[in-house]
Amino acid sequence: MYHQSEIIAEEEGRYMSKVVLTFVSIFFVFCASSETAIHKGQKIFVKECVSCHSGGQTFIAKKTMRDWKKLMEEKGKPLAELHLKNKDAKDSWEYFESNSYEKKSKHLQDFLVEYAKDSGNVPACN
Ligand code: HEC
Repeated sequence: MYHQSEIIAEEEGRYMSKVVLTFVSIFFVFCASSETAIHKGQKIFVKECVSCHSGGQTFIAKKTMRDWKKLMEEKGKPLAELHLKNKDAKDSWEYFESNSYEKKSKHLQDFLVEYAKDSGNVPACN
C-alpha cells in the first residue's frame, strides 16, 4: 500500500527523468552543430582574447547580437581599430593587424553572436 506522498514522489521522479533526458538530447544536438564555424570561433576567442578579457561567456554576454555584428563588420575592422587605438591593448596589436584575423573574422563573429546577451544560448560543451 502506497502513501499518497510516495505516489507523488514517484510521479515527480518520472517527470524529472524526462526533463533530464530532454536536456541531454538538446545538449547533444547543440554540441554537434557547434563543431562547425562557432567552434572555430570559440578556439580563436580562447587563444586570442581570453588573456585580456577573462570571464569568457560573461564578457560576450555583455553585448547584444547587433553590437557584435557591428564590431565585426568589414572583416572585424571596428573591433581591430578599437584595440589599435588603445595602448592598454598593445599585446593584441600583432593579432589584430594580421591576415589571420581578417581571414577568420567570420568565425569569430559567428561565435560572438551565438553567445550574445540576446541570443538565448548558453555554452555547454567543454
Ligand atoms: C592585449 C589585451 C587584449 C586582447 C588580446 C584583446 N583585447 Fe579587447 N580590449 C582590450 C582593452 C585594453 C580594451 C579597452 C578597455 C576596455 O574596454 O576593457 C578592449 C576592449 C574591447 C572591447 C570593447 C569593450 C566594451 O566594453 O565596449 C571588445 C568588444 C573587445 N575588446 C573584444 C575583444 C576580442 C573579441 C578579442 C579577441 C579577438 C580581444 N578583445 C582581444 C584588450 C585586449
